[in-house]
Amino acid sequence: MKADYLIIGSGIAGLTIAIKLAEEFPERKIIVVTKSSKEESNTQYAQGGIAVVIDEINDNFEKHIEDTLICGDGLCDREVVEIVVTEGHKRLKELIDWGTQFDRTADGTLDLAKEGGHSYHRVVHHKDETGKEIERAVLVKAQQNKNIEFLDYHFAVDLLVADNRCNGAVILNEKNGQQFSVYAGFTVLATGGIGQLYQQTTNSVIATGDGIAMAIRANAEVDDMEFIQFHPTALYAKSEHTFLISEAVRGFGAHLKTKNGHRFMFDYDLRGELASRDIVSRSIETELKKSGEDCVFLDCTHLEMNAFQKHFPAITQYCLLQGIDVSKDWIPVVPTQHYLCGGITVNSFGQTSVENLFACGECSRTGLNGANRLASNSLLEAVVYAHWIFCFLKNKEIQLVSVLPVLKEKLIESQVSTEFINKRDRALRNLIQQNVGILRNNEDLERTKRQLVLWQEECKTIAKNHNLSTEFTELRNKITVAISIVSASLSRTENRGCFFKEYITFVMF
Ligand code: FAD
Ligand code: SIN
Repeated sequence: MKADYLIIGSGIAGLTIAIKLAEEFPERKIIVVTKSSKEESNTQYAQGGIAVVIDEINDNFEKHIEDTLICGDGLCDREVVEIVVTEGHKRLKELIDWGTQFDRTADGTLDLAKEGGHSYHRVVHHKDETGKEIERAVLVKAQQNKNIEFLDYHFAVDLLVADNRCNGAVILNEKNGQQFSVYAGFTVLATGGIGQLYQQTTNSVIATGDGIAMAIRANAEVDDMEFIQFHPTALYAKSEHTFLISEAVRGFGAHLKTKNGHRFMFDYDLRGELASRDIVSRSIETELKKSGEDCVFLDCTHLEMNAFQKHFPAITQYCLLQGIDVSKDWIPVVPTQHYLCGGITVNSFGQTSVENLFACGECSRTGLNGANRLASNSLLEAVVYAHWIFCFLKNKEIQLVSVLPVLKEKLIESQVSTEFINKRDRALRNLIQQNVGILRNNEDLERTKRQLVLWQEECKTIAKNHNLSTEFTELRNKITVAISIVSASLSRTENRGCFFKEYITFVMF
């Protein structure tokens, strides 16, 4: 199969690029490969919203830039921060033009919420289901373009790279098990995050770090992999399924309390509940260690409930289904893996270190986040970088390689057993949850790395003798990404942002 552009991933990053290319070049072919249903993605679950400076009387770009830099704890690329923040409103307008509905006040202006680390209300949202609304709108828009071909339930296994140039990818049709190559002039990885490396994560099931693992195998540079962001307030539940209680709930005035009713965040930071999420998560972890309790609580009972339920209908409803009436009960919450601040290193056009290979969205490392992403900056980063990648590609001729690398047919029937994959996967997630959390130490990290390397060797042997299923490849990818995270954590000798190693001298607040 051939395409001018191959885009891997159908979240906000992948779809935004696809729409722009399709509209600019109606005669060119764009293939969007996505391993699940078209809409399944982290984008789909985004709650709080997208951070954009709208209220130019009280807010300004400089404040958003400063908030992002403070949150990134000295490791952001200032130039990137400036460009992303100042382009926000143009990209937001595009989302609106494509049909995304954002909440508005009675006078028709955009309703702005506040989240941790933001000095002002600037989070544009669709109730508490912003991602679902954005994904709906961009998917409708993308599907209106006849030159975009969607291959859903197709899994990208590996990139086709020769002489440090990417020529497409090897794709597995998950319905019939057939592998084939898609040769493309330009390939974009928009494969999202890595949450499924952890036992507890707010992320979608698709977040298995595939794009990053493929990039690592193709020798592309990755960076800042140690900066794993933990969201302070996921609903505490005994089940594996995790549900996020948006940071916007604290922005709306909810208080974090211990079981005894102590509003503890002011013991740690002057901003209280609205400190950046690395600080809030670490403070909760410290409180839980002190008390031996399993969770802390989010108290919304003092808030004006009509307005609360209007802004947070999905959260109110989900809590109710769990037997929690937010108007009377405190919500039990715990910090949970949420976001990868690092990823595949890209320049300001989204180019990776491999020729003709781009990365966009959560799988990329642009320099915006530094050591910790500011709330609601991720959707913003995705749309801004999608635009820059488009601007770069707009001026490039398509050159498919004349001698295409041949995909070797594997004549092996043998499949890796589901039982084996599930067992290894459980062990992996348990290991990472225990040893690569909010607080890490070198001893555990070393032990974890030794185990991961053994599993990686095991996977290499298995891969030689078996057909590669989606589940096995995801496991192999997770191990590859885990090694990258653990190695980066071992190398880091200074605590910054959401990275905290015990036994390092650090002034916490
Ligand atoms: P995704 O939206 O995750 O899309 C990845 C795509 O790649 C999917 O289509 C997936 O199927 C596909 N894919 C992956 N691997 C393969 C493969 N091997 N082959 C084929 N396809 C593949 N950010 C904000 O800015 N504001 C918020 O309010 C916010 N709230 C959030 C709430 C939750 C619960 C979560 C989990 C995240 C939230 N985030 C928020 C973060 C933000 O949603 C994500 O970082 C962002 O949506 C990522 O977009 P993306 O396009 O890069 O990846
Ligand atoms: C949230 O709604 O709390 C998530 C916001 C984000 O991840 O940026």
